[in-house]
Amino acid sequence: MKKLMAANWKMHKTATEAEETAREVVRLLDGKLAGDRSVLIFPPFTAIQAVAAVLSGRPGYYWGGQNFHPKDEGAFTGEVSPEMLLDLGCSYALAGHSERRWVFGESDELVGEKVAFGLQKGLRMVLCIGEKLEERKADKVEEVISRQLEAGLAGVNEDVAPESLAVAYEPVWAIGTGEVAGPEEISEAHTQTRVKLRELLGNTADQIPILYGGSVKPANAEQIMELDNVDGVLVGGASLAADSFSGIVPA
Ligand code: 13P
Repeated sequence: MKKLMAANWKMHKTATEAEETAREVVRLLDGKLAGDRSVLIFPPFTAIQAVAAVLSGRPGYYWGGQNFHPKDEGAFTGEVSPEMLLDLGCSYALAGHSERRWVFGESDELVGEKVAFGLQKGLRMVLCIGEKLEERKADKVEEVISRQLEAGLAGVNEDVAPESLAVAYEPVWAIGTGEVAGPEEISEAHTQTRVKLRELLGNTADQIPILYGGSVKPANAEQIMELDNVDGVLVGGASLAADSFSGIVPA
């Protein structure tokens, strides 16, 4: 299984800034990208085209949309469709990021709809899951992982092409806080994720990458990558600067 080293730029960077950063990432990684690793960048919508122009035609580099609305087209002011992302060469899209769930009120069910619709339209989907601090304190990590996976994958079965699906475990309390989950917390949550994926998707589950996200930086990335069932990372803050992201990517 290829490891996915993903950058989520969230609401950062104009098209001009994004193009510069993407160029610098490619330059810094020249000859250093391990054959079993792919780079995946999620720019804001307005910068996708600029990033695509830089990454296009480079093996091992992909880009995607941070969000979409699960409809073909229509009166949905402020939204974009999977087809619009595909038209810009996006291979991937995120669904269920905690900021979509907790800032914009997206339900488990809507996340499931997005995953199913995106896959049906030909996007590869990264389903984000993860518990809030109060849920961890209440010993509910496994329960949250199970519930979010069940709902997020409600429209997916074991016939799914494994390369078209990834799960990102991002504990909400570790996002943007500098507080990275410890190795045991990550291992435990990723193992629970794998077990649940097997229950939902049978043997296909073993070929689906499980990414960790939450305060990943160059100093901790390799240690996290060495843990069982960690098949990549989804990086926010530390992906914004090319030197720091390119310090996370290579093996
Ligand atoms: P940080 O790396 O800034 O903690 O963000 C993680 C994240 O939300 C990636 O999607």
